[in-house]
Amino acid sequence: MRRKLFIKTYGCQMNVYDSERMAALLARHGFERSDRLETADLVILNTCHIREKAAEKVYSELGRLARLKQRRKARGEEMTIAVAGCVAQAEGALMLERARCVDIVVGPQSYHRLPELLARRARERGAVLDTDFPAESKFDELGVEGGAPGVSAFLTVQEGCDKFCTFCVVPYTRGAEMSRPVAEVMREARLLVERGAKELVLLGQNVNAYHGMGPDGREWNLARLLYALAEIPGLVRLRYTTSHPSDMDEELIRAHGELAPLMPYLHLPIQSGSDRVLAAMNRRYRAADYLRLVEALRRVRPDLALSSDFIVGFPGEEEEDFQATLALVREVGFAQAYAFKYSPRPGTPAAAMRRQLPEEVKSRRLQELQALLEEQTRSFHAAQVGRLLPVLFERPGRHPGQLVGRSPYMQAVHVCDRELRIGDLATVEITGYHPHSLAGRVVRPH
Ligand code: 5AD
Ligand code: SF4
Repeated sequence: MRRKLFIKTYGCQMNVYDSERMAALLARHGFERSDRLETADLVILNTCHIREKAAEKVYSELGRLARLKQRRKARGEEMTIAVAGCVAQAEGALMLERARCVDIVVGPQSYHRLPELLARRARERGAVLDTDFPAESKFDELGVEGGAPGVSAFLTVQEGCDKFCTFCVVPYTRGAEMSRPVAEVMREARLLVERGAKELVLLGQNVNAYHGMGPDGREWNLARLLYALAEIPGLVRLRYTTSHPSDMDEELIRAHGELAPLMPYLHLPIQSGSDRVLAAMNRRYRAADYLRLVEALRRVRPDLALSSDFIVGFPGEEEEDFQATLALVREVGFAQAYAFKYSPRPGTPAAAMRRQLPEEVKSRRLQELQALLEEQTRSFHAAQVGRLLPVLFERPGRHPGQLVGRSPYMQAVHVCDRELRIGDLATVEITGYHPHSLAGRVVRPH
């Protein structure tokens, strides 16, 4: 009998990708994916540790799961609970102490060992823990089988980070930077496209630091990989995320001007517009470097839409530092961006810095920055009205007959059209906009 698997995914796209891979691996071991928690035989929480009380949220979810597990036990049913992802990595054995209902704690580098961990759990009494950084790569084991990918499919090409920004847990939870070999990436990309993906989104915590081993025995950078991927027949669009400004090399900038499938949208986190704060964050660039980079990118691709991440209320951030961030935002003009309140992550250098800022200051700055960013998004959206944009349709909309696709600049575009199918790339006249999406109608040649 096939057992039922329920996965809840928190956080970044890397976790979404990992959840898919875990499901595909477990399918080979008799698990069928289900969206019903109540009847699941195996529940996996794929967790995120990047900001605010993430661990607390996981523990309160585990509290609910513990009660469900009890009720089901009373009915003679068994439910196995596994915690994966970055909270699992960060908490480790502590999690087994604090949440007795947990059967398996597995870090992001050990997912390929899940079948073995499940078997061990069934064999031995007591919970099992695997938060090693194993020598063998999880990618070799996880494979790419499983259901059909979406029109837009994620492909992890790089993982981990060696940058050690002082606020960030990633170097500790995801480990050292590593790039998958080119041949492996190409194989997975071809398979995804053969199965119906039209767009590939290359993922990595520091994706533009990619330096995978090429078939020629040399290390390839991300630009070179993108040029190779662009040759895959049937592949229409390429994107990559997330990038560090210091790793935007000349070839990659040039690719944005030359490579037609590479979409004119770039998520390039800056975090702050103040050089003092950037130095304290160990970001390795100044605000002026970022501005020069944006200028170089816009020279080769004038319509490039930029997105970014900001942290407000970093320890020691003065009002004038914050004003420098606002000034930078005004100067660049972002199509969209995310702003976060600084949240101390245990074990990171910034968490131990003096002059942690009061909550009120963080909240006020966050509100002010978000208001400015929302205004920029609104004007970016407004500027699309009347334009003809190629839209790749990915999924059904909420209303009957409606489909949702993406513009080259990453906005969701809603269209009602009877002849339109998921997977179509159509020219759409943008007729209206909302805070988070655009609306339009398909333009057909007469
Ligand atoms: N506090 C607030 N925001 C953070 N980020 C990462 N760590 C922290 C933290 N400790 C944000 C950064 C990063 C994004 C993924 O999350 O802006 O780019
Ligand atoms: Fe974290 Fe990104 Fe800095 Fe790496 S580059 S430490 S992932 S914020």
